[in-house]
Amino acid sequence: MAPNPKKAAGERAADYVNNDMIVGLGTGSTAYFAIVRLAERIRREGLRIRCIATSERSATLARELGISLTSFAEVLQVDITIDGADEVDPAFNLIKGGGGALLREKFVASASETELIIVDEGKLKRRLGAFPLPVEVVPFGWQLTRQRLQALGCDATFRSSDNGPFVTDNGNYILDCSFGTLDDPPALEREIVGICGVVECGIFTGLATRIIVGKPDGSLEERTEPGILG
Ligand code: A5P
Repeated sequence: MAPNPKKAAGERAADYVNNDMIVGLGTGSTAYFAIVRLAERIRREGLRIRCIATSERSATLARELGISLTSFAEVLQVDITIDGADEVDPAFNLIKGGGGALLREKFVASASETELIIVDEGKLKRRLGAFPLPVEVVPFGWQLTRQRLQALGCDATFRSSDNGPFVTDNGNYILDCSFGTLDDPPALEREIVGICGVVECGIFTGLATRIIVGKPDGSLEERTEPGILG
């Protein structure tokens, strides 16, 4: 069977987790493999951890696998979070939110000492922006919020699901904003989150501390310092 780069990266990431850690569980098809591997380590090695999920989807998976969950009612700091990304640039800027979990993902990342990002090689970009930028907005007046976002130079598409609007775990909507290449991700992030009606934006800057890249041949590349990957 051909190697699965997402699985290889997810399983490697789970090796960084030690006893008594508070662990942030990411969302998406790559984070899935890290969560499954953590559950295996709990069963086989008796690994003692408590986890905070970045989405209801990951919380459900964790519960099904017997991983104990905690919340910010009990802990205010996270030791390590393992999460995927839609794009990663050489400065460790990310685009996230393809799965719609960006707000909780950024919240948990901002509370984490180590933010470990796991991706396959296709997510590595010299410049961010080919992937439309997810922006979470409050339902009230979202049309005006869209107009304000478009004034920044993007085409903003309302995200739908099979049953109508896509609604986030926080009861909000997502606008997928096609800006083209992002010249200055940190500046754009600041501009977007400054718009009234925007809850959070999928540009993550200054949060990732380690990137693990899964290659098609099953090998891995890891970096803790910004620089060209891949
Ligand atoms: C979820 O909202 C996203 O931020 C995911 O982390 C991102 O979309 C990566 O997902 P995959 O691992 O499924 O590609």
